[in-house]
Amino acid sequence: MATFTLPKNSRITGKSREHKAEGGTRIKTFKIYRYDPDSGENPRYDRFAIDLDQCGPMVLDALFKIKHEIDPTLTFRRSCREGICGSCSMNMNGRNGLACTTAIADLNGEIRITPLPHMEVIKDLVPDFSHFYAQYASIRPWLQTVSTTPSGKERLQSPEQREKLDGLYECILCACCSTACPSYWWNSEKFLGPAILLQAYRWLADSRDEMTGDRLDQLEDPYRLYRCHTIMNCANVCPKGLSPAKAIAETKKMLVERQM
Ligand code: SF4
Ligand code: SF4
Ligand code: FES
Repeated sequence: MATFTLPKNSRITGKSREHKAEGGTRIKTFKIYRYDPDSGENPRYDRFAIDLDQCGPMVLDALFKIKHEIDPTLTFRRSCREGICGSCSMNMNGRNGLACTTAIADLNGEIRITPLPHMEVIKDLVPDFSHFYAQYASIRPWLQTVSTTPSGKERLQSPEQREKLDGLYECILCACCSTACPSYWWNSEKFLGPAILLQAYRWLADSRDEMTGDRLDQLEDPYRLYRCHTIMNCANVCPKGLSPAKAIAETKKMLVERQM
């Protein structure tokens, strides 16, 4: 159920802290959302000025510099720093993306960094992915078969069948798309959202999977699938250049075709 006002303890009323740069000529300020549930205080924005000549080129480099040299309590997720693990997804100057593949030089002015929108926040830039992962589990994201494996070994695909997975298998489940989708903001309890629907189509498109009918039955629901209104925010923000909207359209097409 959508709520249109923030709970009192979510409002950004905490007292901001300023950290000035110690010299340098290329100074950039990062305005970062801070929230510590143990403090009992409301969220706040802290400002950190850093010298870009003493920092790597990416937003993740700046976050590390701040954490290592200014405030070790700053909390964020990251692992690969190569755009592969999907864990550093966050909102930078109003746009969702990966901190490790977003260049500081591409962001104008003071850089405002917040957690992914419309997710509960655990601490600072770390959102709670529990619901997102539960939705992922609900589509049974693995190969389902009923027949015995041919020759007891592998299930082969032709190059053409394999090609149908391009644009789908690359998804790193960063949730940049789902948390940029207005339909997901308002109906995330019931609408699966673009990331999970792209993953659902990944298995519908797999020639080896034998549960297509069951998978479509699960998706044929006014909320789970049909809350997508083709607003296209998902395709615009995906850091891997994927189009969940296209995968959703293909799924809707499969549902129509099976009625014919
Ligand atoms: S195309 Fe659908 S899933 Fe993508 S942002 Fe729009 S409503 Fe959301
Ligand atoms: S489709 Fe793109 S934005 Fe969405 S979860 Fe996958 S990689 Fe992230
Ligand atoms: S740290 Fe892995 S995608 Fe950014």
